[in-house]
Amino acid sequence: MVLSFCDKIILAPMVRIGTLPMRLLALDYGADIVYCEELVDIKMLQCKRVINEVLQTVDYIAPTERVIFQTCEREKDRLVFQMGTSDPERALAVAKLIENDVAAIDVNMGCPKEYSTKGGMGAALLSNAEKIEKILKTLVNGISKPVTCKIRILPTVEETVNLVKLIEKTGVAAIAVHGRKKEERPQHPVHCDFIKAISNSVSIPVIANGGSQEIIREFQDIEAFRSVTAASSVMVARAAMWNPSVFRREGLLPLEDVMRDYIRHAVRYNNHYTNTKYCLCQIMRDQLESPLGRKLHAVQSALDICEVFEITSFYKSCQLSQEARKLSLNINVQETPETDDNEENHDIVQMPIRFERKDYLPQVTPKMFLLEWCRKEKLPQPVYYTVQRSLDKFFRSVVTVNEKKYCSTLCDKSKKLAEQAAAIVCLRTLGLPEGKLGEEESNLIRKRKRGIQDESVSLAGTQGGEQIRKRLHNNEKFDDLKD
Ligand code: FNR
Repeated sequence: MVLSFCDKIILAPMVRIGTLPMRLLALDYGADIVYCEELVDIKMLQCKRVINEVLQTVDYIAPTERVIFQTCEREKDRLVFQMGTSDPERALAVAKLIENDVAAIDVNMGCPKEYSTKGGMGAALLSNAEKIEKILKTLVNGISKPVTCKIRILPTVEETVNLVKLIEKTGVAAIAVHGRKKEERPQHPVHCDFIKAISNSVSIPVIANGGSQEIIREFQDIEAFRSVTAASSVMVARAAMWNPSVFRREGLLPLEDVMRDYIRHAVRYNNHYTNTKYCLCQIMRDQLESPLGRKLHAVQSALDICEVFEITSFYKSCQLSQEARKLSLNINVQETPETDDNEENHDIVQMPIRFERKDYLPQVTPKMFLLEWCRKEKLPQPVYYTVQRSLDKFFRSVVTVNEKKYCSTLCDKSKKLAEQAAAIVCLRTLGLPEGKLGEEESNLIRKRKRGIQDESVSLAGTQGGEQIRKRLHNNEKFDDLKD
């Protein structure tokens, strides 16, 4: 079904904010349409379209392997792709690349930032009516999805209305109007009268924008902004960035609940933690000095974020279901590091193990325990072979000890963690201590139950760990062992 822009409440395009998790959250709370952040045509044209079977997303991946744009089935009928462009042919090439994954395509004609305008994009287009016509007509004639554009107002109502009439003639499905002039900043009052004059002059839907802070703070204000601008629809940016539950008819939710809902989407779609952290900081904007704000400031991974917001079990269950999905899709089997002699996977001992630093004795690691054991047994030292998966950039490592290979079925975000996981698989298979907290007690209990006396068990305790650390510390190979 063709997307209609009449009588809609819309999440505005926002760089760094309008990524997949925020768009899904806005839809959850009641937005009818969501715009992605502006993506520049040249960057998009370098991307490869990849279906991510594990996350069930469509990813557009840059040559640097960074995911530039990610979308999923749930938003397909309500997602507008916003591009930055100054060239009709490039714009059409991008539109053709992505048209089957989105509901409509928008051209940014309002961004006043230098990085946009110096390339002739964004607000620079406002003074080039000929270019506007060419870009929009090329898109309207070249693709099967609706085309829209987002403008700022010109110095006078008359000039703005004339421009909008010209834009209407290109065949666009709607026009979003940010009621500020290009030199005006977000704190300047929004010109509702300009938007109203435009709404009364054209027959395509006008989407009013610019009402956050001054007018829009919660859901019912959206209707007030629509009414004062006589617009067909309303687009919300900052009010949604500060509290996405602005789209809820039932009213705003407490920020901590909103942040948890947001994090769940971010974790589910492997959103990069730096982007998740950035969006959370915008939501927490005036509470960044609170204890929660300080903790958020210190996070360095998605797991850290989940710990701060006390939803670690959600993170773990997400990871497990992703791993299960990878297994069911055979991704692990294909991506298991190959050994020199092309051994089959069944010759590698595998377990679903992950190395969690907090579960281990300080300053010692399973790799250290394994190395020490090899030395004691006069075996060659363990050899690690690690590969990074192209799918998600995670690592998997195989360790060879005494001509046998060991590997975790789970992948890790760093090479070091993957090596530790492989070492744990080996140590557990051989029934050796690995330096886990509480290991000494549980081994002693196990042994007592079996009536066994064995001095070597003390290796796992704090004392044993300390001995190993000291012995290794004096060893020249210590550098290889640091985690
Ligand atoms: C924006 N805005 C914006 N506009 C656009 O067309 N493309 C974009 O990528 C962005 N990026 C962006 C990022 C951030 C962090 C903000 C705050 C704003 C402008 C935005 O869509 C909107 O026009 C203005 O913020 C005015 O609307 P509000 O905030 O008053 O609802």
